[in-house]
Parts: sequence; C-alpha cells; structure tokens
Amino acid sequence: MPIFVMEGENKEEPIPSMPGIFRRSIDLTVKECKELFSLGVKAVNLYMKVSEDLKDNTGKEAWNKNGLMQNTIRAIKDALPEMVVMPDVALDPYSIYGHDGIIENGKIVNDATNDALARMSVSHAEAGADIVAPSDMMDGRVQVIREALEDSGFTDVGILSYAAKYASSFYGPFRSALDSAPKDNMEIPKDKKTYQMDFHNSKEALNEVFKDIEEGADIIMIKPGLPYLDIVSKVREAIDLPIAVYNVSGEYAMVKAAAQNGWLDNDKTIIESLTCFKRAGADMIFTYFAKEAAMILNR
Ligand code: PBG
Repeated sequence: MPIFVMEGENKEEPIPSMPGIFRRSIDLTVKECKELFSLGVKAVNLYMKVSEDLKDNTGKEAWNKNGLMQNTIRAIKDALPEMVVMPDVALDPYSIYGHDGIIENGKIVNDATNDALARMSVSHAEAGADIVAPSDMMDGRVQVIREALEDSGFTDVGILSYAAKYASSFYGPFRSALDSAPKDNMEIPKDKKTYQMDFHNSKEALNEVFKDIEEGADIIMIKPGLPYLDIVSKVREAIDLPIAVYNVSGEYAMVKAAAQNGWLDNDKTIIESLTCFKRAGADMIFTYFAKEAAMILNR
C-alpha cells in the first residue's frame, strides 16, 4: 500500500483526486499501518509531502537523518517491526523543479543524481528500511545504490527497482497529492520524457529490466499497471526474479470516479483488476486499493 505522509501531529488531509486516500502526520500514519497490518497488508511504500522551504535543486533534505521520511520509517518499524517498509527513492518531492534529478543548464544530470540517490538510500537503511524503491529512472543508479548500501554495511537491504517506468499521464493525481509536478519554467524540461520511457516502445522495457538485474536489483517494477500488462507478461516470460506492478494513481482515480457515479461496481472492479495483474505475471502489486481489497477479501 503506497502511503502519503506530511508534517504535523494528529493531521489527516483528504486527497481530492484520489477519493478515500489521505495524507497523514506520522502518528496517524503509524495508526493506519497497524490497521493495515491487522487486515493483512504487510508492506507499505512511503511518499513524503515536503514543505516548500525544504526544497532545492540538490534534494539534500532527502538524506536528512531527521527528515520526515527517516522519522516515518523509524516510527513504523518501532511500532510494527514485521511491517515491510519500502521508502520511495527519487528527488522529485524534494526538488524545487519537481524533477526526479538534479538540473544543470536545463538538463537532468544523471551521475550527480545517482550520488544523491545513494545517500538517500543509505539514510533510509539507517532508519530501518527493509527495501529501498528507486522510482527515478536514472541510468546506472541501481549499481551506485547497491555499492553504497554494501559500503555502509547494509547487505540485507533489498532494492526494488522501477526498471520499466513509462512517462505517463496516469501519474497526475499522485503529483497533485505531493505537489511534485514538474514546474512550468522555460529553463527546465517540461516533462519527464528524458528519463522515463516512451509509451510507444516495448522492447526497451526488457533492456531496462536486464540492466537493473545486472546492477543488483532484487525485485523489478513495471509502471503504470493496467494499460501496460503486455509489458508485465513479456517481462514475466524473460525473468525469474520477482515482478512488482504499480496500479498507479490515475488508474485508482478512474475506478473511483466511475464507482462514485454508479457507473462501475467498486468492489468487483477492484478484485477483477488486481486478479488481472496476477494473471499477467505480477508477484507483487502496489495499489491504493490494498486496504479496501483486504477488507473485501476478509469479508
Ligand atoms: C516519482 C514518482 C511518481 C510516482 C511514484 N513515484 C510520479 C512521477 O514519476 O512523476 C507515481 C505514482 C502514482 O501515480 O501512483 N518519483
């Protein structure tokens, strides 16, 4: 279950573009995690809503030992040691430009970004993360992160790599949840197409997957989900490593909007979609429906 966290205490804010999903302060996030765990949802993927004054072009708040992410990881692991905690690794929530990488002269600088992602990953591991989940799509970052984790003694921390992540319009509601959309600024790329993949292309997905496996990824992610099940199925035939699929925010919003209008049966649509991910070959599904699905299945 992906989870959005914000500063403060006893705070909960609904995300309008994702009905039923909230941003919560750490205390209420821990409470929510306890409920999730008791329902059978045993892994969470964490995203931070970072205040504007902490954002810059280096993303340095991302590896602050006492940052919102690091405090959240510690709080969840203290309360629920068995919950699998997977923090997101990418600079966009920390970037004044809303990009996953550092920008110089109007371009994303790949290798400097990798060093930042490695520092971020080590700080997550120090806080108690079980698996780091780089969603940034820089080239070579899995290897740089793997080496940094090993150098710091975190040989048991896993890497779930977003290997085939497409530049997609389906991420819209997520970007409004974190206020992390690329900013409208002539000096910077207006979209993420220089690092995320072109949706016309399927062969590139396999190359990206093989590269990430070679670099030391433990789990391979494909994203978005439902419109990309052909990719899931192709990758399933090619590799034996666990495959994760991300049922992204736009896919969630579509089902919710239709269900709220009475145009779709909410519960049946959720279970059907999730089953289709498994049919295509996913071992693991990242979905905002996780809690609801667990409640439906426990009935
Ligand atoms: C960014 C990131 C995104 C998502 C997860 N991590 C958005 C993006 O790439 O712009 C999207 C998740 C969703 O839409 O549910 N590193």
